[in-house]
Amino acid sequence: MKPSIFSGVQPSGNLTIGNYIGAISQWVEMQKDYNCLFSVVDYHAITVKQNSDELRKKILEVTKIYLAAGIDLNNSIIFQQSMVAAHTELAWIFNCYGARIADLNKMTQFKDKAGKNQESVSIGLYDYPVLMAADILLYDTDIVPVGEDQQQHVELARDIARRFNNEFGNTFKIPQSVIRKEGARIMSLLDPTKKMSKSDENSNSYIALLDDIEAAKKKIMRAVTDSGSEIIYDPKERPAISNLLTIYAQLGGRQIPRLVKDYTGKGYGEFKKDLAEVVAKFLTGFQKRYYALSDKEVNKILEAGAKKVEKMAAEKMEKVRKVIGVR
Ligand code: AMP
Ligand code: TRP
Repeated sequence: MKPSIFSGVQPSGNLTIGNYIGAISQWVEMQKDYNCLFSVVDYHAITVKQNSDELRKKILEVTKIYLAAGIDLNNSIIFQQSMVAAHTELAWIFNCYGARIADLNKMTQFKDKAGKNQESVSIGLYDYPVLMAADILLYDTDIVPVGEDQQQHVELARDIARRFNNEFGNTFKIPQSVIRKEGARIMSLLDPTKKMSKSDENSNSYIALLDDIEAAKKKIMRAVTDSGSEIIYDPKERPAISNLLTIYAQLGGRQIPRLVKDYTGKGYGEFKKDLAEVVAKFLTGFQKRYYALSDKEVNKILEAGAKKVEKMAAEKMEKVRKVIGVR
C-alpha cells in the first residue's frame, strides 16, 4: 500500500503563483507515489465573510486550478470538504478532546488575520486549525504537503492526534508536513518581507494564476528590487531579488545557481524582462488547460470525489464514536 497524502486550498481570493509553487505543484510531483486526497476546503473559507454566489464560483475555480495544474484523477481524488459532514463532526470532537485554548492562542496565522480585532472575529477563524486537524486525521494521512505558513497547523494536528490516542487508544495516525526546500514561502512583489497572499488588497503584490498575461508581465517589471544591482541569491540581504530568482527557478525549470551564473554581469532590467516571459509562458499554458474545463464536468468530479472519500470517513467516524462512548 502507498502512503497517503492530504492537502487543500481555501476557495477564496485569487489563487497565486505562491499557492502553486508552495503547495499545488508539490502535489502534482508527489501524486504518483502516494494515495492522494486534495480537498477544496470551503468550510475553512467561511471563517471570514464570503459572498454566497462568489463562494460557489470559487469552489469550481479552485477545482479547475487543481486539474489545470496537473492533478490527475487516475492518481488522486479531488473533493469538496463540505460534502463530507464527517470533517465538521470530527472537528467538534477534537474541540472537546485534544484541542486546547493554549494551543490555539499560539497560532501565528490567527494573530495575523485577526490583528487588533481578536475579540470581534468569528470563533471559526480561531478554531480553524482544529477543523484542519480533522481534515488530515480523518483519512490516516501520512504526509501533508503545504507552504511554510501551514506547518504550525500540521504540528497542532499531530499534538491533537497524540492526545486523543493517549486517552482512547491508538485511533489516529500521526501525520507529517512536507514543504519545499525552495519556494515554500513566495514573498509579495511589493514587499519581500511579507508573504505573497491571495487576499492582499493590492493585486500588484501577487501574480494570480488567472491574471491577464500582459498585466502579469507588468507586475513583474514593477516588482520592488533591493539596493545594489547584481543578481545574487541571498534571502537575508537581498530578499527581493532572491524571491524573484525563486519564482524564476520554479516556473522556468532552471536551478538558482545556474540562473545566478547565467545573469552574471547583467542588470535587474534584463533579468525581470526574461522572468516576465517565463511567467507569461507558464500562465499561458496553465490558463489554456483551465479554460478548457466546463463547470458541468467539474461538478461531476466533485460529486464522484465526495462519494469515494465518504466511505473512508464513515469508517473512521464509527470507530471514533465508539471509543468516546456515544455508540
Ligand atoms: P491558502 O492561500 O492560505 O489557502 O494556502 C493554500 C496553500 O498554499 C497552503 O499550503 C499554503 O501554505 C500555500 N501558500 C499560500 N501562499 C503561499 C506563498 N506565498 N508561498 C508558498 N506557499 C503558499
Ligand atoms: N488551512 C489551509 C490553508 O489555509 C488549508 C487547509 C485546510 C489544509 N485543511 C487542510 C491544508 C488540510 C492541508 C491539510 O492554506
